[in-house]
Amino acid sequence: MRTFGLLTLGLLALSPLHAQYGSPDRLWWDAGQGSLFPWEMDFDDPTGRIGVLNTSGAVKTTGHAFFEALGPNGRACITCHQPSNAMSLSAAMAVKRWKETEGKDPLFAAVDGANCPDLPQEAASSHSLLLEKGLFRIALPWPPKKVTPEFSIEVVRDPTGCNTGRNYGLKAITPTVSIYRRPRVTANLKYLLPGPEGLTFMADGRETSLEDQAISASTGHEQAQIPTGEQLRQIVEFESQLYVAQSADWHAGLLTERDGPMVLGPVNLRDGVSGAISAAVSFSSWRGPVEDKSNTQMAFRASVARGRDVFFGRIFEPAGTTCGSCHSSGKTRWMDIGTTNHTEATADPALPLFRVTCNDSASPHPTLGRVIYTQDPGRALISGKCADVGAIVMQQFRGLSARAPYFSNGSAATIGDVVEFYDKQYGIKFTAREREDLVNYLSVL
Ligand code: HEC
Ligand code: HEC
Repeated sequence: MRTFGLLTLGLLALSPLHAQYGSPDRLWWDAGQGSLFPWEMDFDDPTGRIGVLNTSGAVKTTGHAFFEALGPNGRACITCHQPSNAMSLSAAMAVKRWKETEGKDPLFAAVDGANCPDLPQEAASSHSLLLEKGLFRIALPWPPKKVTPEFSIEVVRDPTGCNTGRNYGLKAITPTVSIYRRPRVTANLKYLLPGPEGLTFMADGRETSLEDQAISASTGHEQAQIPTGEQLRQIVEFESQLYVAQSADWHAGLLTERDGPMVLGPVNLRDGVSGAISAAVSFSSWRGPVEDKSNTQMAFRASVARGRDVFFGRIFEPAGTTCGSCHSSGKTRWMDIGTTNHTEATADPALPLFRVTCNDSASPHPTLGRVIYTQDPGRALISGKCADVGAIVMQQFRGLSARAPYFSNGSAATIGDVVEFYDKQYGIKFTAREREDLVNYLSVL
């Protein structure tokens, strides 16, 4: 918001603009509510504020296919891609909506807003994965449509009942695998990086264009007919001009001004001052020559700048790896980093567990061989390749503070848990200060 820059940080909480857009009752955007989606908006989030920028000006949402329910279940795209949650949806928001609507919000529609559609829908326990981890059920055909898979898949544990049941499981008339995944950010899309396979969307890269993605989102999540050409154009045009990023941080202050040290925020993102994948800016003016520990703003900014160096410079095994070496361009976008492949003992008891057995002729999984336990086979459900079991397409990094939990299966409740995951998984041994710096850096993006 333009006038926002004139206010000093101390006045932020008192600003009338804050009341207009950031007050808790305005945090939720209902399908079909029909208001104008302003040019710029800011919302409170746990570490500061999330900024949303429509580059082509305010959007009239009445009759707009991203904002209106296209099918009978009352959901629109906006239902699961909320501006106050960086165009994703936090688990905390799902809980808030459950309380406010006594579970009646279209968000909780049985099709994928429940652990399984055939559970009693009025019980919160039937929606526990959405309420606790912000997960939606994704039902994929088995075997995959276009390829002959190199492996067989069995259900080892089925806590939701949706993989072994008569109606939805692998033994149903139309055999499907149900896995549970977080919504992904529908903004900053010009920064999504093509891998060697080109541009792909979703945790398993199953969609290769925004049009195809919008068709399956409408027919799937919204249980609607295939959108018209005009509706598809509206959706893709809207997503393609939208930017989200943290715009203020309670410790660092405003993040949005180009001329100052501040290179973050949605306007700078639109203008390419800093990218969306990991914001490789140097933060040079945040690195004061002498650190004044009594100045909390300066100390925090210096920590963010160091966190950026940890991200791009702290080397760990295998030889020469940094956070930035995967989270940068030109790399395959899907990879198994151990978020979904688990042993029977370490698997999350709330999520399904599958055993994948690879054919003798298949190239084995790079680290796990030919028998793999997994909670989401990821790319392998599309490619049919044994080597792809557990490979997940990496997400962009903007607005992380507004959209916990993290990883495609919501397994990291906080940014600190993400860092902790990597520390364990790669045996990094971050110091307490490196951890804190990395968390601070990720939280201002
Ligand atoms: C019920 C919740 C829900 C609704 C409604 C919904 N989405 Fe999503 N969206 C998701 C989930 C969950 C994913 C991730 C799925 C996966 O990874 O397999 C996702 C992923 C996406 C992505 C992929 C982004 C990326 O970086 O890969 C786009 C784009 C998207 N949705 C657009 C839309 C559009 C357009 C609509 C309306 C036609 C819509 N969504 C409706 C839940 C929803
Ligand atoms: C070997 C490649 C690789 C390395 C090294 C790596 N990442 Fe990742 N990262 C991924 C992949 C793949 C995902 C997606 C995993 C998933 O969602 O299950 C991911 C996901 C993430 C996410 C989740 C974003 C979201 O929206 O949920 C964050 C944050 C993240 N990584 C931060 C880091 C940090 C910090 C480091 C360094 C300590 C790091 N990554 C190192 C590949 C890597």
